[in-house]
Amino acid sequence: MKISIHSGKTIEAKAGATIYESLKANGIFLVSPCGAKGTCGKCTVKVLSGDVDVKSYAKIGQKERSEGLVLSCQARADSDLQIEIPEHSRLVLGGKIAVSIFKDTAGYLKSYDTGIDPLTKRVSLSLPPPSINDNIGDLERLRRCLEEFGIVNVHFSYEFVSTIMDKLREGDFNAVLSYAKTSGNAFEGISLIPSGRCAGQYGLTVDIGTTTVVVYLVSLTTGDVIDIGSTYNSQTKFGDDVITRIVHATEGGGLSDLRDAVVGDINTIVDFFREKHNIDTCGIEAASISGNTTMSHIFWGLNPASIREDPYIPAVNIYPIWHASDARLNINPQAPVYTAPSVASYVGGDIVSGILASKMHRSTGISLFMDIGTNAEVAIGNDEWIMTAACSAGPCFEGGGIKFGMRATPGAIESIAIDPVTLKPSISVIGGEEPAGICGSGMIDAIVELWKTGIINQKGVFNPAKTPLVREGEDGLEFLIYSGGNRDIVLTTVDMENLIRAKAAIFAGVSLLLREAGLSLDVLDKVYVAGGFGNSLNVEKAVMLGMIPDLPKDKYVFLGNTSIIGAYLSLMSDALRMELESIASKMTYIELSVVGDYMDEYMSAMFIPHTDMSKFPSVSTALGL
Ligand code: FES
Repeated sequence: MKISIHSGKTIEAKAGATIYESLKANGIFLVSPCGAKGTCGKCTVKVLSGDVDVKSYAKIGQKERSEGLVLSCQARADSDLQIEIPEHSRLVLGGKIAVSIFKDTAGYLKSYDTGIDPLTKRVSLSLPPPSINDNIGDLERLRRCLEEFGIVNVHFSYEFVSTIMDKLREGDFNAVLSYAKTSGNAFEGISLIPSGRCAGQYGLTVDIGTTTVVVYLVSLTTGDVIDIGSTYNSQTKFGDDVITRIVHATEGGGLSDLRDAVVGDINTIVDFFREKHNIDTCGIEAASISGNTTMSHIFWGLNPASIREDPYIPAVNIYPIWHASDARLNINPQAPVYTAPSVASYVGGDIVSGILASKMHRSTGISLFMDIGTNAEVAIGNDEWIMTAACSAGPCFEGGGIKFGMRATPGAIESIAIDPVTLKPSISVIGGEEPAGICGSGMIDAIVELWKTGIINQKGVFNPAKTPLVREGEDGLEFLIYSGGNRDIVLTTVDMENLIRAKAAIFAGVSLLLREAGLSLDVLDKVYVAGGFGNSLNVEKAVMLGMIPDLPKDKYVFLGNTSIIGAYLSLMSDALRMELESIASKMTYIELSVVGDYMDEYMSAMFIPHTDMSKFPSVSTALGL
């Protein structure tokens, strides 16, 4: 049987496979936050002709069913089909993603006063050629020369030694040695390069996010960022959040799928860099990786199963430095690959990197660090102590669990205002195109505007008497934000519940961490907000929602993607790598779910902005309360 796609391509329908599986086998990926379990309702396709066997319609409404929409993961072809894939169902891989607000990365490195001291270093050697009177072996000759530079206790792998004879002679015994410090005063030879070859010396820094992958190509000699590449993490096709991916990893063969997906993403970017900048594989001599605990485990092919099982212990927190060949990266196979240390199963190297990038660990004043991404993590502390926790906020601010939720990419409604008289919404859309959904900042705008105009109450419950734009939908009451094009875009009662739960989890996490530290909000000098979401967060609206603390706007510092900056700093400086590890070792992880009054704190935050308005004085003032 064949499936013809409206855009022109025709594929073979695999026997017994769902439409979703047949599309995937042909390199066409659909958005699938639930990992094709039939529960998220995001993988819709429209059947234009032919017969389908539909197992479940789940979240597909009656109107959409009558138009031929099915969940591709729950439908099989019973005959040749003609289908259309709506834009919002397509998973865009390779899209351009905003990566960081740090414009001058090398300048930022200088601000740490540690100098450039990269993970892999080079030394130029001029060895006396062997003779009858100086007849030691090539490796011993190399060691003797290195001793003159104070480089002793060097391990040379079989791969290194197997080519030493040819390489030394190719350069008339003049060569450049790349080497890395492995621990204390121990070193490892990375590669021996005959003089005149492999002029440039490069490294990679990689942020493996649950949603996105960002790679910097860095000059190891100057610290300059030569190029930046980014893509969606292809693991998304196996599920949107870490839990669905751990479940996939533990089902037969799933770990390899996930590992292949993310390593493939990184290598696609690396291959592009190498071709564009004419760099030989051997010239990329080091890599530094930063990601949450699950992403780091999967990258290295480590079983993440225990991360989600009580008592939530990962296989490793402090990663040894392994080789690029073990990581399967398309760079110098002997290159050391450093991984930012994790603190716990749900506070990973990305957060430790973020703290290094914020410099809060160097300040005597107390700071709050919040990373709001596919989940949310918070940390409080200063140069002496840091406490951290993960908030079960879920991925809704990145679109997960929200009927028309999407990431902040073109077509996303990013801001919404509701006229206080007509109660009609006006929207602005990223890229100015036909809206396809709502991203995190649009959701925050919408919920605050709905509350200010009385369309929802403090609990997020709709008042249908207020405006006909509140209507009965497939999932109960909903508010019509946009009507036109192919479909209406609404915020549903379930969306409201999910958003309020997410913001309550973040605020409860911050409140409890402060309380565990015996501190109040007014002691905070700075609040650092990291994550792709942090770039466009409207502080006033987020405060009004009750998601972030009610503090003066000038205390907030937006840092963008701090995970990649931490990876960069640890690539470029031995001292900063030590600093990163020292941060991890002094971070105390608090498991919020076992803190006695977590539920009280969480329930109190399930209102807009909060049951206790004294925590939000600026909101009271703005509303004249
Ligand atoms: S319903 Fe098909 S991927 Fe979630």
